[in-house]
Amino acid sequence: MGSWIYCILLFVFGCSVGECKLIFVTMLYRHGDRSPVKAYPTDPYQESAWPQGFGQLSQEGMEQHFELGQFLRKRYTGFLSKDYTRFEIAVRSTDYDRTLMSAASNLAGLYPPNGSQVFHPGLNWQPIPIHTVPKDEEMLLSFPIANCQRYQLLMNETERTEIFLNITKTYKDFMEMVQNKTGLTSVSIERVWSVYDTLFCEMKHGLTPPAWVTPDVMKTLKLLKNFGFQTLFGVYKREEKCRLQGGVLLDQIIKNLSAAATSTSNQQLKMIMYSAHDTTIVALQEALNVYNGLQPPYASCHIFELHQDNNGSFSVAMLYRNDSSVAEPYYLTLPGCAQQCPLQDFIRLTHSVIPTDWHKECQINSSANDKDVVIGLVVCGLVLLLLLVVLFVVLCRQGEPAIGYSHVINQSDDHS
Ligand SMILES: *[C@@H]1O[C@H](CO)[C@@H](O)[C@H](O)[C@H]1NC(C)=O
Ligand SMILES: *[C@@H]1O[C@H](CO)[C@@H](O)[C@H](O)[C@H]1NC(C)=O
Ligand SMILES: *[C@@H]1O[C@H](CO)[C@@H](O)[C@H](O)[C@H]1NC(C)=O
Ligand SMILES: *[C@@H]1O[C@H](CO)[C@@H](O)[C@H](O)[C@H]1NC(C)=O
Ligand SMILES: *[C@@H]1O[C@H](CO)[C@@H](O)[C@H](O)[C@H]1NC(C)=O
Ligand SMILES: *[C@@H]1O[C@H](CO)[C@@H](O)[C@H](O)[C@H]1NC(C)=O
Ligand SMILES: *[C@@H]1O[C@H](CO)[C@@H](O)[C@H](O)[C@H]1NC(C)=O
Repeated sequence: MGSWIYCILLFVFGCSVGECKLIFVTMLYRHGDRSPVKAYPTDPYQESAWPQGFGQLSQEGMEQHFELGQFLRKRYTGFLSKDYTRFEIAVRSTDYDRTLMSAASNLAGLYPPNGSQVFHPGLNWQPIPIHTVPKDEEMLLSFPIANCQRYQLLMNETERTEIFLNITKTYKDFMEMVQNKTGLTSVSIERVWSVYDTLFCEMKHGLTPPAWVTPDVMKTLKLLKNFGFQTLFGVYKREEKCRLQGGVLLDQIIKNLSAAATSTSNQQLKMIMYSAHDTTIVALQEALNVYNGLQPPYASCHIFELHQDNNGSFSVAMLYRNDSSVAEPYYLTLPGCAQQCPLQDFIRLTHSVIPTDWHKECQINSSANDKDVVIGLVVCGLVLLLLLVVLFVVLCRQGEPAIGYSHVINQSDDHS
């Protein structure tokens, strides 16, 4: 009976717990609950309404990440060492207060000190390093990455697709109403998320919205906001957009998974944690083609687990914990692969969204052509200059006495 169940589990889940060894885990999460990042002009609640101002992690946000850390401790008991061990984990965050503080709260839940790791009696916390780079140097975790002309062009083209024009037309009056009520100079699909976000944060923190914000208005704003998220990396030319955006992060994650599969170090890195934003998760999930079309909630977490089978082969499983009230996270399946996807297949199936030369791919073709023309002109100019120099030299030599001339001939005779 037991072995039957085991067989069925094996069939359904590929390699199951007893058969597989967990080798490496990497994850990306969104920060926890925060204050709104801005207010609209007519907003009755401006920055002073928030204890730490705009865009800051709230105590609820800290609690959400502490809980996620505890969940991770429980899930990876026996995989991670009991005590904090520095070579086992690497943490990187974007350079925002809310993502840095989310990572710190998370690690407080993941690594409560015990025994000899307690450094101050009664303090159930120990410091764990969190790395970051300045905002203007962030090329891994902030999306959409700016300064990519080709991506800008694709977004311009997205705005001319039938579905985009249809949505804009269908909700034209609604967006005009929102514009009138908020005092914003323009409300578009790209901008509407911030109106929704501000109202959502205010209501979540018990602030009464203005009378025009009915449940129906919130519902429509939410629909438009979710559509806005989809247009960023999907809807039109998804693969090409992802090569220029989420593929950059996926490339690094795949390199880290592959490195973990070939590592023979006895100081094995076991976990990489990235602390970032909803758009980071959307960029990554669109690149993987597993995005569910909904804005990732606070503290949602996309996990990659690298397993090794009895026969030595490696596979990747993906989990999405977007709801702490559900006991088990959702398994996400890469299209075209099993839930436990062999690493080689995982790499092959995502190959089309990994950029080979990001800087080059970000250039616009016509401007690349312009560049070719410039190079062509420069080369022509140089050749012309060379010809003139040769002509000048020849003419000068012709003017010289016959001896020198014959000397040159003699010299060249020597060489033949
Ligand atoms: C904490 O350490 C003590 C011994 O120092 C041990 O008995 C106990 O099981 C540890 N607790 C946890 C949660 O690891
Ligand atoms: C996209 O459209 C904007 C506004 O219409 C324009 O300023 C910009 O140059 C366009 N970008 C590209 C790359 O075509
Ligand atoms: C436009 O959108 C409406 C409602 O969202 C839908 O009923 C209609 O079929 C769409 N039309 C086109 C041409 O996509
Ligand atoms: C928005 O305001 C303008 C100018 O005041 C007005 O003409 C227009 O009808 C208003 N639109 C809506 C949807 O309220
Ligand atoms: C992950 O892979 C990238 C690219 O190979 C590398 O630069 C980075 O150091 C790796 N991260 C860790 C924590 O090892
Ligand atoms: C979480 O993700 C799953 C899988 O995509 C989806 O079915 C579910 O609706 C999501 N829940 C929330 C709260 O976003
Ligand atoms: C190892 O086993 C898995 C199933 O558990 C199978 O899919 C894979 O093909 C096997 N690899 C080799 C090299 O035999």
